[in-house]
Amino acid sequence: MTTSTADLLKISDLKSPKGSFLLGNLKEFKQKNKHRILEDWAKEYGELYTIKLAAKTILVSADTDVNATILKQRPTKFRRFSKINEIFLEMGLHTVFNAEGEHWKKQRKPVTEALSVKKVKGYYPIIQEKTTNLIAKIKSYSETENTIEILNDFIAFTIDVTTEVAFGYKLNTIDNKEDSFQKHLELIFPLINERITAPIAMWRIFPNARDKELKISLKAIEDVMGKFINEAKQRLAENPELVENPTTFLEALLVESKKEKTVFDEKTVYGNVIAMLIAGEDTTSNTLAWTLFYLAQHPEIVQKIRQEASIAYPNNNTPENYDQLADLKYTNAAIQEAIRLKPTTPMLFFQPNEDLVLKNVFVPKDTMIITQNSYAAMDNANFSNATKFDPSRWIKSACPYQNHAPKTSRAFGGGARLCPGMHLSIIEMTTAISSICKQFDISLAVKPYEVEENFAFTMAPENLKIIFKKASTL
Ligand code: HEM
Repeated sequence: MTTSTADLLKISDLKSPKGSFLLGNLKEFKQKNKHRILEDWAKEYGELYTIKLAAKTILVSADTDVNATILKQRPTKFRRFSKINEIFLEMGLHTVFNAEGEHWKKQRKPVTEALSVKKVKGYYPIIQEKTTNLIAKIKSYSETENTIEILNDFIAFTIDVTTEVAFGYKLNTIDNKEDSFQKHLELIFPLINERITAPIAMWRIFPNARDKELKISLKAIEDVMGKFINEAKQRLAENPELVENPTTFLEALLVESKKEKTVFDEKTVYGNVIAMLIAGEDTTSNTLAWTLFYLAQHPEIVQKIRQEASIAYPNNNTPENYDQLADLKYTNAAIQEAIRLKPTTPMLFFQPNEDLVLKNVFVPKDTMIITQNSYAAMDNANFSNATKFDPSRWIKSACPYQNHAPKTSRAFGGGARLCPGMHLSIIEMTTAISSICKQFDISLAVKPYEVEENFAFTMAPENLKIIFKKASTL
C-alpha cells in the first residue's frame, strides 16, 4: 500500500520536547547522557519526533524499521551527516568513515579486506600477546587489590592491537603510557562530538585551550604516522614480493595508492590508517569496560565464564588459538548483553541525499537525522525483562525469554556500511574477558549508580573503578 502525498506528515507536524526560544533543546543535548534523554523523549513524544538545536531542526528516530531502512539505503539515499565529513576533513582525517559515494566504495574495499574473518584469524597471535600483557598488568593490580580505573588499560590494549594490525608496529602502550598515542587520541572523539552539533564554529574564531591541544595532538599523530608510512614505503621498495602480498593494512593501502584511478593519495592513506585506530579504540575499550561493570556485579556469571575457559584452554592463561574462541559462547553472550545494555554507539547521525518518505513522514533532502538505538534495546517488546543483565538470552538453546530480537540492537550499524571491525573487536573482547575471568575475581569499588554514561561520539563509562583479586575458585 502506498501513502498518498496528502496523507503524509511534515517534519513540523511531529511532536517535539519543549526547549528554550533561542537555543531549543541545546541545553539537554550538551548533557553527558544525551542518548538517554533522547530515549526518554521517544517514550514521551513517539518513536519519530524532532528536536531543535538553536535554529536547526533534527529528526530523531527510535523506530527500528525506519532505522533499518536508513542503514540499508546507503550509500544512495542516505549519507552520514555532512558536518561529520566537514569536521573530519578539518582535522586532516580523510577516512572511509566520512567518505561518501564512489569515494567511500573505493576506500571501503581494502578496509573490509584488511578486517576480514580470514585476516583476523591471522592476527590472533597479536591479540593473544597483547592480552598476555594486559593480564600481567591486572595481575600486578590483583597483588595490591588497589582500586583501578580499568578503562585506561583497555584503551592501551586496543591501541596496541590495532597498531600492530595496521602498521606491523609493536607498541606496548599498556606498560608505557607516557610516550603513547593514548593521550593524543583521547581528545579526538570528544571534540568531534562537540563540533558536529555546535551551532557556531567557535573553535575557528576563538580556539580555547582544548582546541589548541587538539592541534598539537593531531600534529604529533601525523608525525608518528609519517614515520610509519615512510618505513612501509621503504619496505615495499626493498621487497617487491610485498606488493603481491602486503603484510599490513598500511602496506596494502600503499600498494592501492599506486594503482590507476585510485582514491588513495597520501592523505587518504594516512586518514584510513588513523581511522582504524580511532574507530577501533574507544568503541572496543568502552565495551570491555562496560562488560566488566556488569561482571563485577555478577560473580555467578564470572564463575560460568571461568568454567567455560577452564574447559576450552585448561593449561593456559589466555586462549591458545583462534579456534578455541568458538568454545567461549557464554563469554561472547556476556559481551553481547553488555553491548545491548550499554551500547557504545547509541546514536548515529545521517541525512538523506534526496527528498523522501520515512514511514508516513515527508523528509526533505539534507534533514539531519539521529537514529536512536538504545531505545529499542531497552524495550520489553524486543527483549523480555529488558533491564536485566542476563547473557543466557544470547544462547539460542538456553534463552529463557519470550521476546528476543537481536536485529533491533544496532550497535555495529548495518547495511553496506556495517562496522568492518566487528569481528576483530569481538575476537579481542572475547579473548580479553575470558582471560580476565579465568584468573581474577572482580568487584566494583563504587556503587553501580555512581558509574555514569558519557556520550562523546562514543559512550564511555565514567568513574568505573574495579578491584581485582586472584580468582578464589576454579
Ligand atoms: C565494540 C566495538 C565496535 C563498535 C561498537 C563499532 C561500531 C561501529 C558503528 C556503529 C559504525 C557505523 C556503522 C554504520 O554506519 O552502519 C562503525 C563504523 C566503522 N568501524 Fe566500528 N565499531 C567497533 C570496533 C571497530 C574496530 C575494532 C575497527 C577497526 C579496527 C572499526 C572500524 C570501523 C570503520 C573503519 C568504520 C567505518 C565504516 C564505513 O563507514 O564504511 N570498528 N563502527
